[in-house]
Amino acid sequence: MERLIVDDRIKKSRTPARLDLAQSGTGLVLGLFMWVHMLLVASILLGKGSFNFVARTMELSFLSDTGHGYPSAVFMAVFCVFSLFIIHAALGVRKFPISWKQHTIIRSQMGMMKHSDTNLWYWQVVTGFIMFFLGSVHLFIMLTNPGRIDPYLSSDRVFSASMWPLYLILLVCVEVHGTIGLYRLCMKWGWFGGKDPVKSREKLKMIKNRATIFFLAIGSLALLVFFIIGWRHSDRAGEPYNHRLVERVEAAVITEAEPVAAEPEEAAEAEASEEAPGETEEAAEVEASEESPVEAVEATETEAAPLETAEAAAAEASEETPAHSDAHGEPEANHHTTPDEE
Ligand code: HEM
Repeated sequence: MERLIVDDRIKKSRTPARLDLAQSGTGLVLGLFMWVHMLLVASILLGKGSFNFVARTMELSFLSDTGHGYPSAVFMAVFCVFSLFIIHAALGVRKFPISWKQHTIIRSQMGMMKHSDTNLWYWQVVTGFIMFFLGSVHLFIMLTNPGRIDPYLSSDRVFSASMWPLYLILLVCVEVHGTIGLYRLCMKWGWFGGKDPVKSREKLKMIKNRATIFFLAIGSLALLVFFIIGWRHSDRAGEPYNHRLVERVEAAVITEAEPVAAEPEEAAEAEASEEAPGETEEAAEVEASEESPVEAVEATETEAAPLETAEAAAAEASEETPAHSDAHGEPEANHHTTPDEE
């Protein structure tokens, strides 16, 4: 039987290790990005104004004189994150159980070993696979709508564009995937190891669980708030949030609510009127006489009204005495008496 000669002079390639390093690096950046992203999105819990402020700041609006932002800045950020997302996914599929056989082996080992970190790795694969699809949809929408991020437009996307189921599943996937990933990075590269590795592993696991619960909680609450705002805004879906208008309305409401501090002259006048009641009667009389001409006319008209009715009554009386009328009900007298017919 021919002996198989393994040429161990072939230098083992460092590429897989480098790919692992690249996967860890892109995972670290995306994981930390997701924590920041979720805190920024959760600013909606502090009100529409806060979310709008965050969205405008992300557009670098503080750099422009007009306060208008630069959607191209968001476009660039999404483009970078989307590229990292795709590179990370491409590096991740190397570790996926790609055949059914491989999948059953992993499942049986998990059942046999009951090793929590192995189970965590399996759920990272499942959530990563789901994010291939749902994360790409979200990122593509953000890439093509960089200037359409505000309290109303985001809520309209969640409610009127029915994105909420996608966001809900994506939220669970990204928070589970991201926090497991950061925990495994610490385990893999020995970060925060401390003197007692077993103790620090337990501690890191506790931090991981709490971070998952925290980000799932604020993410679901934020999604609920987006949903409610979107529902209320559904009749005006697509109408952007106009913070200047809101500020003006709020300012108007505030001024209306506050007792208007009277001008110094007005205060003096009010005071004067309080002082001399006698004067007021005088003022009232003058006023009566200064009654506006219209009122005078109206007064006369009403006064005139009885006269007219008296006249009409007189005319009627005169008609009744001779009692003549032709076929059309027009009084004869009149008929005869008009000068032009003669
Ligand atoms: C720079 C890239 C990104 C930007 C600018 C961005 C922006 C946003 C914005 C504005 C929202 C609010 C809803 C909306 O307007 O439609 C949102 C929600 C969300 N994003 Fe992103 N996103 C980015 C990347 C990602 C990535 C890579 C993931 C995960 C793979 C992700 C997962 C989510 C989830 C789960 C929500 C729902 C949050 C909630 O629970 O309310 N995002 N994102």
